[in-house]
Amino acid sequence: MHIQALSLFALWLPLAVEGCGKDHRLRRSFDPGDPLLVKRDRPQYPPRLTKQESVLINSFNNASISDWSYYYTHGAHLAGKNRTMAQWTADRWAEYGLTSSVVPYSVFINYPESQALSLSYANGTKWKASLEEDVLPEDDTSSYPNRIPVFHGYSATGDVTAEYVYVGRGQKGDFDRLVELGVDLKGKIALARYGGPFRGVKVKNAQDYEMIGCVIFTDPGDDGEVTEANGYAAYPHGPARNPTSVQRGSVQFLSYFPGDPTTPGYPSKADAPRKDTTDAVPKIPSLPISWKEAVPILAALDGHGIPGKEVNRTRWVGGLNVTYSTGPALGTKLSLKNSMRETITPIWNAVGIINGTSPDEVIVIGNHRDAWIVGGAADPNSGSAVMIELAKAFNELKKTGWKPKRTIVMCSWDGEEYGLLGSVEWVEEYLPWLKAATVAYLNVDIAVSGPIPSFDATPQLHQLGIESMKKIRYSVKGSKDTTLFDIWNSTSGRIGVLGSGSDYTAFVHNGIPAADLGAYEGDSDPVYHYHSNYDSYHWMANFGDPGFKTHVAIGQFMGMMAYHLATDELVPFDVNNYPKQLNIYLDNLKALARESNVQLDLSKLEHSIQALTTAAKLLTATKKVAKFTHDKRLMDLVNHKQRDLERAFVSQGGLPDREFYKHVIYAPGQDTGYAPTTFPGVTEAIQFGANQKLAQEWVDKTSKAIFLAARTLTPWGGKW
Ligand SMILES: *[C@@H]1O[C@H](CO)[C@@H](O)[C@H](O)[C@H]1NC(C)=O
Ligand SMILES: *[C@@H]1O[C@H](CO)[C@@H](O)[C@H](O)[C@H]1NC(C)=O
Ligand SMILES: *[C@@H]1O[C@H](CO)[C@@H](O)[C@H](O)[C@H]1NC(C)=O
Ligand SMILES: *[C@@H]1O[C@H](CO)[C@@H](O)[C@H](O)[C@H]1NC(C)=O
Ligand SMILES: *[C@@H]1O[C@H](CO)[C@@H](O)[C@H](O)[C@H]1NC(C)=O
Ligand SMILES: *[C@@H]1O[C@H](CO)[C@@H](O)[C@H](O)[C@H]1NC(C)=O
Ligand SMILES: *[C@@H]1O[C@H](CO)[C@@H](O)[C@H](O)[C@H]1NC(C)=O
Ligand SMILES: [Zn+2]
Repeated sequence: MHIQALSLFALWLPLAVEGCGKDHRLRRSFDPGDPLLVKRDRPQYPPRLTKQESVLINSFNNASISDWSYYYTHGAHLAGKNRTMAQWTADRWAEYGLTSSVVPYSVFINYPESQALSLSYANGTKWKASLEEDVLPEDDTSSYPNRIPVFHGYSATGDVTAEYVYVGRGQKGDFDRLVELGVDLKGKIALARYGGPFRGVKVKNAQDYEMIGCVIFTDPGDDGEVTEANGYAAYPHGPARNPTSVQRGSVQFLSYFPGDPTTPGYPSKADAPRKDTTDAVPKIPSLPISWKEAVPILAALDGHGIPGKEVNRTRWVGGLNVTYSTGPALGTKLSLKNSMRETITPIWNAVGIINGTSPDEVIVIGNHRDAWIVGGAADPNSGSAVMIELAKAFNELKKTGWKPKRTIVMCSWDGEEYGLLGSVEWVEEYLPWLKAATVAYLNVDIAVSGPIPSFDATPQLHQLGIESMKKIRYSVKGSKDTTLFDIWNSTSGRIGVLGSGSDYTAFVHNGIPAADLGAYEGDSDPVYHYHSNYDSYHWMANFGDPGFKTHVAIGQFMGMMAYHLATDELVPFDVNNYPKQLNIYLDNLKALARESNVQLDLSKLEHSIQALTTAAKLLTATKKVAKFTHDKRLMDLVNHKQRDLERAFVSQGGLPDREFYKHVIYAPGQDTGYAPTTFPGVTEAIQFGANQKLAQEWVDKTSKAIFLAARTLTPWGGKW
């Protein structure tokens, strides 16, 4: 890499700072691990590739990716609304030699019927929100007659009128602060800002604090440098946010109950028994609005309640010209009307299979297909376009005589946006097979919303991700002779921990190693209109990824990982990295316990991590022997142990209050939804109420799981 390029990238470094950045990126904002543990030698340039690797890499073509993207982004495909698109996906994969089918589930879902929001001042004057995104002549799909209204998936039907209170980002801490300041919440409507926690968490908190409705607005203060206030033109004339853009999205209580809320723990077959949804979805109505329509509503609170500055919470005050006062303003009211139609309706996953020669080893690759809008050029169909190109690449490899050792299963999920429906129900249906055979799950959701590569994964996959990125040529902002690794290492540069917010969730919480990859926008890149009509092909082709170069690179990255996972005689996992990462989480836990004055006996946890360290070393030594001797039985033994290691971490039953989440090392934070927490059983017992007894109980359970992991790895299945 050229030095000049390096210093250019250094400008991006602030991106890595926690909590700084655009809303959707906060899915990955918290980063408790230290990826510098992983070897990061400077890559060769040009990358040296094997013959098959070259075939794979050369098969990715920007023009065909653009064609696939165009198809996906020119028809409505809300969950359960477009079977044709599922079949089309299966058909493309079939053309490239996969055995493909469409797999339906019958899920509980609700669809928007009518939505309205108005403001009435104390003097009786009324203002009505349009709840519409502008139709833009430049952007064809923004005017489609079947475009999807602005609403929240799984929101409650309701019609409420009340004074309202600005609640910041709507985390527990925000509400607690309001209570501390004496702001009356009961019976009021919450006005929350997007960003930070998953939107369902905001609505849940509002409900828990006895508020009766919730309005969530986008704030340009989360758009980094690229704002109209800083002189950038708004989309479609420039890279800043279109002021009318609205973020749709689900308000399911994701950090407690992902999947179909009526079938917890079992697949949503048409005739499946149904449970009620009380704990899984809100009881109060909610709506999303644009920043343009938030201005009068916020402005009406100016001079009422506590001014934003005095509330003194991070990210309370945003980028609009108002004081972000709490309110309420006496007699100034919002009327929120939300009418939803509930139904049990089919959704359709597309599934494609390439049989491997060792049927007891499987890798699964997935991306969701459903979108909140007609477009979805970034979320999720940048990933969908890449997945078709990946199927094509496998076909090119086959022409060279390649046969994967491990079975490859490609999945195009439906219903992700409502609550990971397609993936959760499918995993629940095939769980015995998946648990027995799956080596890894690779996820791509938003493959591209900007130029900066990102990679989150469970520890065994870190090194493979790094080595794969080194083999991909990728250039941004005129950089010369750079690989995807170079750009990644000099920008985000950290391997994130998996929380939730995409389809890897059901895999991780059933003990399957997983990775999530893609590329996002930095603070100086065009603003990505997440879940808005302007997440469109036109935006992507002109702002997000002109030339579809980043699509190509992310496809190649994913392809490289998948190829090695499916092909290498010995599964390319780095087991030693697991205990290394655990030690970092342990240090974080110790710091938290100290700060919170919770006394814990962590000796068992320490011993279990030591046991895993030793076991991982033994396994690595055995792996070397297997590699050297090429002894098939020994290779199988090593492969199976690596495959099964992660299963141990889901051996202790569900986490407190959330049966679905079983991984004792990672889970989405209860009050974040997207962002992960490590040693969740212990950490959250401390965070929420300093419950020492519960914390200690989970220290014991967590160490039990880690000891089990150590036993899983030990060649003689020994005791520790
Ligand atoms: C990766 O980034 C780190 C931190 O910025 C830097 O110290 C290191 O030299 C980089 N490695 C390579 C191979 O570029
Ligand atoms: C499904 O998507 C395709 C491709 O975008 C589109 O042509 C078709 O009209 C959509 N079907 C429905 C029912 O909206
Ligand atoms: C009522 O109050 C609002 C907000 O202060 C103001 O904009 C509006 O002009 C007032 N209307 C009348 C009729 O006074
Ligand atoms: C704001 O809160 C921080 C701690 O969260 C405190 O240190 C600081 O003094 C507060 N500032 C004001 C003006 O109250
Ligand atoms: C911000 O609002 C104030 C009061 O309404 C107004 O005087 C000022 O001109 C506005 N500033 C900008 C930059 O719009
Ligand atoms: C793949 O393997 C399955 C299970 O062994 C078998 O039923 C199927 O026919 C195979 N498919 C192909 C295309 O060989
Ligand atoms: C693909 O890349 C080529 C070469 O850089 C470029 O000329 C072409 O416009 C790109 N195609 C699309 C659809 O962006
Ligand atoms: Zn998505």
